[in-house]
Amino acid sequence: MSRIAVIPGDGIGPEVTNEALRVLDVVSEQDSIPLDFEELPLGASNYLETGEVISDETMEVLDEKDAVLLGSLGDPRVKPGLLEKGILLRLRFHFDQYVNLRPVVLYEGVPSALSGEGRDIAMRFVRENTEDFYVGLGARVGKGASRSELVLKRKAYEAKFDIGIDLANEEELAYQIGVITRQGARRVLDYAFQLAKSKELDLVTSVDKANVLTDMYGLWREEVASASERHGIRSEFQYVDAVALHMIRNPGRFKILVTPNLFGDILTDLGAALQGGLGFAPSGNINPDGVSMFEPVHGSAPDIAGLGLANPVGAILSAALMLDTLGHGGAADRIEKAVQEVLREGRHRTPDVGGTTSTSKMGDAIVDGLRKTSC
Ligand code: NAD
Ligand code: IPM
Ligand code: MN
Repeated sequence: MSRIAVIPGDGIGPEVTNEALRVLDVVSEQDSIPLDFEELPLGASNYLETGEVISDETMEVLDEKDAVLLGSLGDPRVKPGLLEKGILLRLRFHFDQYVNLRPVVLYEGVPSALSGEGRDIAMRFVRENTEDFYVGLGARVGKGASRSELVLKRKAYEAKFDIGIDLANEEELAYQIGVITRQGARRVLDYAFQLAKSKELDLVTSVDKANVLTDMYGLWREEVASASERHGIRSEFQYVDAVALHMIRNPGRFKILVTPNLFGDILTDLGAALQGGLGFAPSGNINPDGVSMFEPVHGSAPDIAGLGLANPVGAILSAALMLDTLGHGGAADRIEKAVQEVLREGRHRTPDVGGTTSTSKMGDAIVDGLRKTSC
């Protein structure tokens, strides 16, 4: 029995998660996969009611689970970042989900941001998920400080960093520090190279900005080179700005990309545009030896929340990724095939890709497709 915590969250989160759960119910029945769901009402409403983002008791409940299925977090009524950092990032860090796996696949029948050629889009992003600029090391310096305090702070700064900022003449500054550890880089790179091997791919593209952030990404590059050697698989280095260009001009050239946290965040939204939009993009926050968490790449989309307009495909494919990670690859494949077939056939399209199908009708179509198949 797999014990799964379900966090529908905010905005369109509950709508798309509901469709993912319906799909999971069907395959678990068809393939006799025992799944036990427990819904946790975390998000803006819970926070506004209780004043607590996530309680210790809820963390204890989560600690007993095998996986987490999440919708999305973030609400205009709450300060930006409070729920995203307080729940999403907290869980990624708590469970040490150091891999963020984000497949970017353009299915037949789906209009991409790219037209014409360039439909051969099937790449996987392996985004480092617990380091880089996400470690939370930052501060605002000078807020409410007197002139003399600022001068002192400037001296301390200049001793440490030769950044040429005259803090005495600045009102305030803020900084955020990125961290890459050797061990942190090594483990996510091992995952990426193993994935390449299991998919019989002979090249891993490493993304960085080692021409400017020389220390962090210099260390990253050393680890890429040694992982490449360890696994006997070729690697290439690409700067993140160039990757953004190549993803548009020649997306077919990429198969496995391994990225530090922040660049992976940004490039996977670009990837989502290539695969038809944010509504199609799934993701898994993976700890290969622990509790993993699955969620669509998109956010809570407050602009369309509650209207039945959200595309549930990303959430449904995230549920498939969850089954795959829990060891039910066959069921995961059947979900992907059912999605693929509905998209290819083209009668059901949500409004984000020019259709009129509602969130639940899109779910119906995929559920119907699954019912027609059997294990
Ligand atoms: P967003 O992903 O919520 O929305 C961006 C655009 O894409 C919007 O126009 C939205 O309508 C559209 N969109 C997103 N998902 C869609 C879907 N399934 N179907 C159809 N259209 C879809 O990003 P945003 O507007 O920058 O952020 C909104 C909130 O979500 C913020 O609070 C942000 O912090 C949060 N956020 C959360 C997550 C997460 O929970 N994983 C991810 C990104 C953003
Ligand atoms: C994502 C989101 C999150 C991230 C935010 C909401 C914390 O953008 O999952 O891509 O930056 O990782
Ligand atoms: Mn993002």
